[in-house]
Amino acid sequence: MNVVVTIQPRFKKGEIMLELKNISFDAIEDSGSVEKEILRNVNLTVDTNSFVVITGPNGSGKSTLAKIIMGLKKPTSGQILLDGIDITNYSITERAKVGVGFAFQQPVRFKGLTVRDLLNFSSGKKLDTHLACNYLAEVGLCAADYINRELNDSLSGGEMKRIEIAMLMARKVKLSIFDEPEAGIDLWSFNNLIDVFKKLRIETNGSIIIISHQERILDIADKVVVLDNGTVTSVGTKEEILPDLLGAPDLCEFYKERV
Ligand SMILES: Nc1ncnc2c1ncn2[C@@H]1O[C@H](COP(=O)(O)OP(=O)(O)OP(=O)(O)O)[C@@H](O)[C@H]1O
Ligand SMILES: [Mg+2]
Repeated sequence: MNVVVTIQPRFKKGEIMLELKNISFDAIEDSGSVEKEILRNVNLTVDTNSFVVITGPNGSGKSTLAKIIMGLKKPTSGQILLDGIDITNYSITERAKVGVGFAFQQPVRFKGLTVRDLLNFSSGKKLDTHLACNYLAEVGLCAADYINRELNDSLSGGEMKRIEIAMLMARKVKLSIFDEPEAGIDLWSFNNLIDVFKKLRIETNGSIIIISHQERILDIADKVVVLDNGTVTSVGTKEEILPDLLGAPDLCEFYKERV
């Protein structure tokens, strides 16, 4: 009798966009010894066309994890797969080419470049003024006032955050990562931010990872991941995760204040 063995792929291509396997990261002292274990065996999947929100206490390793996905930090061990391809050793530029985009918790300023230059650079073409202004309007900035501003210290923290979000909208990458996009953003813009993320997902047909402490951002998550002390402590929907967050003695004071 012939036995037909079919090998099942672990996931259908296109179903899981990003997979982190056993990611660990140690901060190393100049002497070479381990100063601190910042991440330990983090496993995480992000499906195509989904919102994943990473939350957890200050210092739990969220920004470090985002920088590892972006290629700004190299994991001490573990693997990063994008659409099944191992990108662990890809540089920031190579990751950008395969469609990974990142907005910092504290945006970088580029003296000498204007907002228009940044939007052109991000989209990979010279945008007409109308389109460039549309991106700024989406994030609540009056385009005429900002389009020719230099990206220097004269821009406020909240303005820089919004310009960075506009930049990712112009880039239209398949995986966008936002590190605390709400930080420093006023309430009006915050309300619109949720719509901006929804629109971004539709326009890119891609996935969005948002690091956030805000319950309103948890509302749009397909999956919430809680990182605590460098490890993933829970994964689930907001409904599954929030009661634990609220019940934990020292976790996420923000949520408790809202009860
Ligand atoms: N080079 C380093 N040496 C020692 N500790 C470090 C180093 N880099 C980061 N850390 C520590 O690693 C931990 C994780 O930092 P990270 O910025 O990833 O936290 P976070 O979860 O993003 O916090 P927050 O919510 O405040 O933004 C922090 O305790 C931080 O002080
Ligand atoms: Mg952080």
